[in-house]
Amino acid sequence: MDPAGFIPYPLEHVHRLIEPGPVLLVSTFDGRRANLMTNGFNMPVSHEPPLIGLIVGPWDHSYAALRERGQCVLAIPSVDLAERVVDVGNTCGRDTDKWRRFGFTPVPAATVEAPLVAECFANLECTVADDRLAGDHHLWILRADRAWIDPDRRGAGEFHHRGDGTFSANAATVDLRHRMTKWQYLTQP
Ligand SMILES: Cc1cc2nc3c(=O)[nH]c(=O)nc-3n(C[C@H](O)[C@H](O)[C@H](O)COP(=O)(O)O)c2cc1C
Repeated sequence: MDPAGFIPYPLEHVHRLIEPGPVLLVSTFDGRRANLMTNGFNMPVSHEPPLIGLIVGPWDHSYAALRERGQCVLAIPSVDLAERVVDVGNTCGRDTDKWRRFGFTPVPAATVEAPLVAECFANLECTVADDRLAGDHHLWILRADRAWIDPDRRGAGEFHHRGDGTFSANAATVDLRHRMTKWQYLTQP
């Protein structure tokens, strides 16, 4: 331990410290069936255009659908759905209808073939904007073309994976809008 009280942290666990979340359900359509997967590695990339970075690897059945159709829906579940969302991430959609098995309801989207998830409080209809790092790093840059929210369903809010099977829920909101002096435009409704 050094004088500041730090101890070394294993590099292979660094993602546990910065895993951003929120945990998402990724809805895809492969031309035949819609599928769902769970995703914890994601981040906003730019405000305008609204780009999102998403890690989806070839170990996921969803990878092929994303590659072939170039579209998906990012659905944001609230923490009360956490158990079912984790179950979705333990199951492959190749031969299982996860919608039916885990009680999620597909709703037609406006601009993409993949359905929205009715139980989630927000749904983003996305197209692949850049797949240059999808091969080496499984990183997809998506552009949100349409976004939907049900504020009443936001409930206890989204939740985040700590990378080790534990999750943190967004509980208290800390409102520091007045201190965002340089970034006031971000605080406007
Ligand atoms: C909490 C949690 C987070 C996950 N995050 C990711 C992720 O960020 N990227 C990824 O490729 N797989 C992730 N997975 C694994 C996929 O959800 C899992 O491989 C799933 O079975 C894929 O479904 P599919 O084969 O039907 O596409 C996660 C699983 C869980 C439980």
